[in-house]
Order: sequence, then C-alpha cells, then structure tokens
Amino acid sequence: MTEVRVAVLGASGWMGRVHTMAYQTFPHFFGASDGTARVVALVAADAQDDLAFRAPGARILQDWKAAVADPEIDLIDICLPDNMHYEVAKAALLAGKHVYCEKPLADTAVEARELADIARQKGLITRVGHAFPRNPVHDLAKEIIDSGEIGEIKLFKGCQHIDVFADPLAPYMWRADGNLAPTGIVGDTGSHIFSFMNFLVGRVSSLIADNFIVTPTRPVVRDLAMGEQATLSGEEKWSEVTNPDGTNMLCRFANGARGVVDFSRIATGRKFVQTYEIYGTKGSLLYNYDEVNRLRFYSSDDKTGRRGFREIDVGPENDTYRSFLPLPNFALGYNESKIIEAAEVIRSIVTNRQMWPTFETGHHLCQIVDACMESSRQQRWVEIE
Ligand SMILES: NC(=O)c1ccc[n+]([C@@H]2O[C@H](COP(=O)([O-])OP(=O)(O)OC[C@H]3O[C@@H](n4cnc5c(N)ncnc54)[C@H](O)[C@@H]3O)[C@@H](O)[C@H]2O)c1
Repeated sequence: MTEVRVAVLGASGWMGRVHTMAYQTFPHFFGASDGTARVVALVAADAQDDLAFRAPGARILQDWKAAVADPEIDLIDICLPDNMHYEVAKAALLAGKHVYCEKPLADTAVEARELADIARQKGLITRVGHAFPRNPVHDLAKEIIDSGEIGEIKLFKGCQHIDVFADPLAPYMWRADGNLAPTGIVGDTGSHIFSFMNFLVGRVSSLIADNFIVTPTRPVVRDLAMGEQATLSGEEKWSEVTNPDGTNMLCRFANGARGVVDFSRIATGRKFVQTYEIYGTKGSLLYNYDEVNRLRFYSSDDKTGRRGFREIDVGPENDTYRSFLPLPNFALGYNESKIIEAAEVIRSIVTNRQMWPTFETGHHLCQIVDACMESSRQQRWVEIE
C-alpha cells in the first residue's frame, strides 16, 4: 500500500482541520516515496457540505461508525473530544484499521492498555497526537542527551500554561466538563509535558500532584471557539467545572532523575507558554516555545572562563528541517509539527514500522495522568508500574 485512505473524525474542529491539511501537504515537503494519503471521509457531528472543500472528493459523514465500518478506509484519525477516544479507537482497531488518535489516548490507563494490546495482537500501526516533540529542535535535544554530552540527567523542569480560562467569565466548554474530558488540564495539557518527559528523559516511576479548580462555575454560551470572549446577557445557565484547571507536580523518573512540572489553563496573560530545562551531570539544555527552533546548551566541558549557554537554532543540517526550509532561523511552527506527524503516520503504515509515540507510549502517558488524578485525590505519592 503506498496510498493510505484516511477518515478524519472531528473534521470540523481545530485538530480535524489541521490533520486534514497535513495529509494533503506533507508530500510537498517529504516527497511521495514513503507513501501518500488520500482523505476519503470527513466526519463531524455538525458536518455540512461546506466541509467538502477541505478534502475534495471526500465523503461528508456525521456518524463515525460509518467510517469505521467502511472497508475502503485504512486509517482512522481521531480528532474527537477526549471521552470518545477509547470507544472509537477500540472499534477502529477491532475493524482492522490503523489508528492515529489525538491526545490523551484514553481517559484511563486501563483503557489505553486495552487499546495498545488490541493493536499489538492485530499488528496495526498506532500513533498518539503528540506533535510538539516532533519539531526537529527536540531531535537535536535528544541527540545531545543520547550522545552523553550533558551526562546523567538529574533534574527535569517543565511547564505549559495558557489563559483561556483565566477570566472567571470565560464560557463553559467541553474541556471543563468532567464527563467529556474527565482529566481536564491533566490529560489536555499535562500530557504534552509528559510527552517531552518521555521523549527526552524516560519513564516516570512515581509522582505527587496537586490539582486545582480556580473557577468552579462558568456561563454556558453556545457557538464560541476556545478562548473567544462572550458578551453575557445575564440569562445564561451556569455549569459546574468538574475537572482540574491546573496542576503542580513533583515526580521521579525510573532512571533516577527528578522532575518539577506545572501546567494550567488559568495563567492570566500567558497565551501559550511551554518550557523545559534539563540538568545533567555535565551540561544542561533549556527550551522555550517562544523561540520555537532554539535550544540553549551548556557544557561543563567548555574551558573555565568560556562557559555559558550557547543558543543553537536548528537548521538545514537537520534532514526534517531541510525538508521545509533551506536556511536556518526561518522557524518551523505548530502546523509544521503536525505535517511532520502526519508524514510519519503514513510512513509508519507504508513501511510497517511503528514510530514514537505509539499507543504503548500513550498508555504510559495515561498512567502518569491517572497517577496525577489519584495523587491529588489522596494527597500522597503514587507509584507507577
Ligand atoms: N495535539 C495537540 O496539540 C492538540 C491540540 C488541540 C486539541 N487536541 C485534542 O484533539 C481533540 C479534539 O480537540 P479540538 O480542539 O479539535 O476539538 P473541537 O471542539 O475543535 O472539535 C471537535 C470535533 O469533534 C466533532 N464531534 C464531537 N462529537 C462528535 C460525535 N459524537 N460524532 C462525530 N463528531 C463529533 C465536532 O463536530 C468537531 O468536529 C481533543 O482530544 C483534544 O485534546 C490536541
């Protein structure tokens, strides 16, 4: 198979639109020798014919089960609200489809384990939508770590914050609903930091977390996208926020490193901040999304009097970067990370080779999410198998 036939589920939403774009775009940068994708179905609860221009020729469906049952579809791409991931992914895997699922893979690690097991038994390709670490600057970080240049990692500090729920009057949406998104910010945003931890440091073995809700009720205002301001009439119904707005966490990694991690959706003024700092016995790495292609690298091997952080901008010496741009510091952003991810999903299927992060990875990330929820409830350290 060199052309993979794809159904995008949740096609009218943010991720659905990005994924649909990415399948059609990646061959422009990576060529077609490792396969191409044809989006043959766009599925959304509110699907209208005006979706059709996004993938010419695709069928427009409202029922995801129709896509899962279609023998002409090879890959089910799940961009649906979190609480649907498990049910839809399971049905797709049982129907023999490869599955690319947005994060978090499932609401619990038990569900994620089941999905990973079914995929393994059926020999299907799986992928979880953690595109941030696929920006080539993080390949550079991994290369430096794997080469031993910063020595043994002792401390990881990471954070991710947004402010979409900083305003107490910001409208209610599914992300604040503990039924539709049971783990709230932990699965939503924490999972991104957890994906960096997994990619760069390794498995987490135990943690203690403090989850918190800042604004307990929010006005229900229909048809607003995330972050949009509402004009309130005073007649609105108010709904209870039933999942965490933020988390502070300490953790231990299986390799002995320690972690200090925080994330939230209530950091007033922080439109999007994502950082990590990795301290080893011989050096350190610092990353800040505000400089999306830049790594700061400190090496104790530099001679005394010349030590300091160097700024390294990933550039065309990196194959992935060069696929997009011939000159350094032109910046690859969020959508390019998603294009890289879609290209890797298709390459995985065509070459029958799993690529990080698979459902096995997704399972471990769900274990961390579960442990955060349990630790915060019980106010104690929680071990992860
Ligand atoms: N990887 C990332 O950086 C990233 C960023 C944003 C969101 N996400 C994840 O992507 C997923 C979708 O988030 P979003 O922001 O795109 O959401 P969204 O609200 O913008 O879109 C949701 C989509 O699902 C569809 N939908 C909802 N219920 C449905 C049903 N029963 N049947 C068929 N279609 C249905 C809606 O019509 C819409 O198309 C979430 O799991 C979220 O956590 C990941």
